[in-house]
Amino acid sequence: MSATTAPVTSLTVNTRVYEGQKPGTSGLRKAVKVFQQEHYTENFVQAILQALGDQLIGCTLVVGGDGRFYGKEAVAKIIRIAAANGVGKLIVGQNGILSTPAVSTIIRKYKTQGGIVLTASHNPGGPDADFGIKFNCDNGGPAPDNVTNKIYEITKTLQCYKIIPDISIDIDKIQNISIEVDGRPFTIDIIDSVNDYVELMREIFDFASIKKLLQDSADKPAFKVLINSMNGVTGPYVKRIFSELGVDDTSLVNIKPLEDFGGLHPDPNLTYAKDLVNAIKEGPYDFGAAFDGDGDRNMILGKKAFFVTPSDSLAVLAANLKLIPYFQKTGIKGYARSMPTAAAVDRVATKNGAKFFEVPTGWKYFGNLMDVGDLSLCGEESFGTGSDHIREKDGIWACLAWLNVIAGLGKSVENILLDHWKVYGRNFFTSVPLLLFQISELIIGSRYDYENCDSASADKMMQSIETLIQKPEFIGRKLQHGGKEYIVKQADNYSYTDPVDSSKATKQGLRILFVDGSRIIFRLSGTGSSGATIRMYIDSYENDPATLEKDAQLVLKPLINIALELSELRQYTGRDAPTVIT
Ligand code: G6P
Ligand code: ZN
Repeated sequence: MSATTAPVTSLTVNTRVYEGQKPGTSGLRKAVKVFQQEHYTENFVQAILQALGDQLIGCTLVVGGDGRFYGKEAVAKIIRIAAANGVGKLIVGQNGILSTPAVSTIIRKYKTQGGIVLTASHNPGGPDADFGIKFNCDNGGPAPDNVTNKIYEITKTLQCYKIIPDISIDIDKIQNISIEVDGRPFTIDIIDSVNDYVELMREIFDFASIKKLLQDSADKPAFKVLINSMNGVTGPYVKRIFSELGVDDTSLVNIKPLEDFGGLHPDPNLTYAKDLVNAIKEGPYDFGAAFDGDGDRNMILGKKAFFVTPSDSLAVLAANLKLIPYFQKTGIKGYARSMPTAAAVDRVATKNGAKFFEVPTGWKYFGNLMDVGDLSLCGEESFGTGSDHIREKDGIWACLAWLNVIAGLGKSVENILLDHWKVYGRNFFTSVPLLLFQISELIIGSRYDYENCDSASADKMMQSIETLIQKPEFIGRKLQHGGKEYIVKQADNYSYTDPVDSSKATKQGLRILFVDGSRIIFRLSGTGSSGATIRMYIDSYENDPATLEKDAQLVLKPLINIALELSELRQYTGRDAPTVIT
């Protein structure tokens, strides 16, 4: 439906500066209550638009989010402010719904100047939980540091914003509306949230062979999947895609997006997606997948909830990329991972003679490498996997990539992993199974998160570790626990120079690298909405065939204890145990 409404005129509203509108790893993420303060959201949206500079007038932007509480109000504000600032067109997902990968898809497909994503990703939603606003650039990826810094600088001195208070659009209806604003044309296109993304998935994957895998046939029973959208945005996408693949609704769980995610913490890991883990452990399933609130994270499980660590998932896909039609067409340009991600994919790159990159935490660091054609596949330990089909990580893509690979290899998830480790060795990184092994009050896993710590103590701890590891005599030091010895090869505060634009990112995490390829890493999270979250990552490499199938808990125990002693984490944080282990 198309409609034209009467001409309107913009107003300028005086505002006050809000401190702390600095986008973190992935946009501005705060409690809903913070965004609800008078002018708070308006200021940030105005700053995003102003940061577009010369590109602003007449530009097209995509708007949508994960359906969480406050999303629709934010869309209404963005429409009013964008119109007043001279934006030419907004493409808005119906009901304000667009997954993060869908936003990236639409920005690229329609060549827009960027998009505004309304999400706090995997953080809980609802009036007492979190909200977030993130800007993506014209390549479809999260804004890089130079853009987010520009936005932040504008918020520090903003005195007013422009708005048209009386535009009110029904975003629940697919429609196209044209309005004359201050004598300029302004269009709002409310689009189906799912179509463009599903079309892209059909082009990338071999739907026919996946469909065959998922159906009963004369020679084998159907490969049984259980997909859990955690009441986040992926529900409608999952429903459309998996119905097309012949999977019925009983295998698709929590597929209605809810404003508060039904009380779930929509983060697909062994702790927060326990329902899926239990259902797969006890049920007849061969495969399970869960996605986060905005659809960019994924967790992959095999039979009996065999857990595929995100680092292994990346490495296995890297080794089997040629089974996917998209990569048969584009070729494999290179692989990358974020620094704290276990180094499993590095070995695939070496074996294939492919380009390989290590970047700081944050999907935005992959964008430049993809844009210049150096990178096909990348991933992060934080349950992010994706490729250069878009510029965001992509949960459903990862799930379909696994199913395409399984269909091609004709093997179970477990056997794919075992065969992979036999060739490349294994980077023990995440607990399998979780939280079962207790030693001296410690629960053993491998990424330990200490959430909501006092920021000053967390900073002090990081400083003290840095001082220790930067002493020249630290290199070569032998660290022991439980009969295992690790020799320090290199230690630093990680910094990165982008090979494409030479921009620098410093202080990206404390790294202790050992002679045998094992690593300990400490980082402060960039996505928390209050206090500090300390992340401790343990990556222990083994290539002895006798160790490959061992319980990860046992293999990781010595290195975890070394890390806890060296950091004095318990003394600094006053915490005996982590908040979450993934
Ligand atoms: C977001 C980004 C990821 C990043 C993660 C790190 O999810 O999209 O690219 O890996 O944040 O979060 P952290 O809390 O560790 O800074
Ligand atoms: Zn997310």
